[in-house]
Amino acid sequence: MWGGRFADGPSAIMREINASIPFDKALWRQDIAGSQAHVAMLARQGIVSEEDAKAISEGLDRIASEYEMAGVPEDWDLEDIHMTTEARLAELIGPVAGRLHTARSRNDQVATDFRMWVRDAIDQMDHGLEALQNELVFRAEEHAESIMPGFTHLQTAQPVTLGHHLMAYYEMFGRDRSRLADARARLNECPLGSAALAGTGFPIDREMTSEALGFDGPTANSLDAVSDRDFAMDYLYAASVTALHLSRLAEELIIWASQPFGFVRMPDALSTGSSIMPQKKNPDAAELVRGHAGRVIGCHTALMITMKGLPLAYSKDMQDDKPPVFEAAGLMALSIAAMTGMIADSTFNTERMREAAELGYATATDLADWLVREADIPFREAHHITGAAVKLAESRGCALDDLPLADLQKIDDRIDERIFEALSVDASVAARSSYGGTAPDEVRRQVKRARAALGLDG
Ligand code: ARG
Repeated sequence: MWGGRFADGPSAIMREINASIPFDKALWRQDIAGSQAHVAMLARQGIVSEEDAKAISEGLDRIASEYEMAGVPEDWDLEDIHMTTEARLAELIGPVAGRLHTARSRNDQVATDFRMWVRDAIDQMDHGLEALQNELVFRAEEHAESIMPGFTHLQTAQPVTLGHHLMAYYEMFGRDRSRLADARARLNECPLGSAALAGTGFPIDREMTSEALGFDGPTANSLDAVSDRDFAMDYLYAASVTALHLSRLAEELIIWASQPFGFVRMPDALSTGSSIMPQKKNPDAAELVRGHAGRVIGCHTALMITMKGLPLAYSKDMQDDKPPVFEAAGLMALSIAAMTGMIADSTFNTERMREAAELGYATATDLADWLVREADIPFREAHHITGAAVKLAESRGCALDDLPLADLQKIDDRIDERIFEALSVDASVAARSSYGGTAPDEVRRQVKRARAALGLDG
């Protein structure tokens, strides 16, 4: 393509280090669409003849069906998807193919292709997260009253409902989706027509190509447009935070599925056995979701570091932008699908969860709150009295509400029999009915709002 200036061809090493076709062939659909929009614009502006444009456009259609059927050929000498397609076009229609690249450079071409690819990846991830949110809402509704221990420091803190816990993740994935929407809105400007870096002297119509490719408008500065990969970093950041949320949920499922917890039985279809220990059922899918988060965050870091020292405008370092984005997109699609399956098909052992909540003195705060409310004791003092009650129950190996009233009254004589109504885990969760709280009725309200937001009610 640039043979005119060179006496010698590239060395084998140069060919290999330069070739991006092994990975950027993933952009072929976007590349053909971009070329079609470009050539239609060139014809409309009278920059190429209608006849030549028609030959180019038909050639591109034919190449698209070849790629569709047989895949994209990988010839390192042709470097990348852009030159591979152009070379094939020349084979098909002859020298007229050379007119396609008028008023264009691979720099604005790849920036445009890549934006379109990332835009699709954003849309796919958003759909995946919506499906995951749906499952969370279904399971939360089912378990609005199922009591489990809530933890801080992974120590039993206060009883909560499983529905409440699942809805916490609904919120996280909602924020992830809004991050994706932000990234998409910022991404959706078309670099095509920026040419190599400085724009072009041909009378192009950037509005026309931008509209044809589904963008909101052309980018404002050609130097920025060919140098900018913010859209890919925005996507990778949004993916990283999502992966982090998936990893936290995966970690909880792994803990809950362990024998000492026994809160959840993971679906067989998303677990594996052990080749040596017949009793084992391992939560591999959850562990891989947790593991993949590390890789996705690594992809984000990789691109940031690639970009950080680059002067304007394009440098070949930027060719390395694609592998981390493609890798992250693949990992995210798998992770989200696996998590959706785990949420949909896990069996929660609600008896075991309730027992754990009852055993952990999770209602100690309720005892303290009762002393404040019913006996007008300052909270700090109530906290102290409650501590003594917990100590006593612990020494006897019983729950707080198993302590005889007489013993509680020995600790503080302002306690009376009404205390037992406050000490059950059911009373404890039912009391926490503040907006966003864990009370079953409040969880049902959260579910109701979520169902409306997701359009689940028809
Ligand atoms: N394969 C290149 C990339 O992905 C295309 C742009 C090449 N531009 C250039 N000036 N060599 O970055």
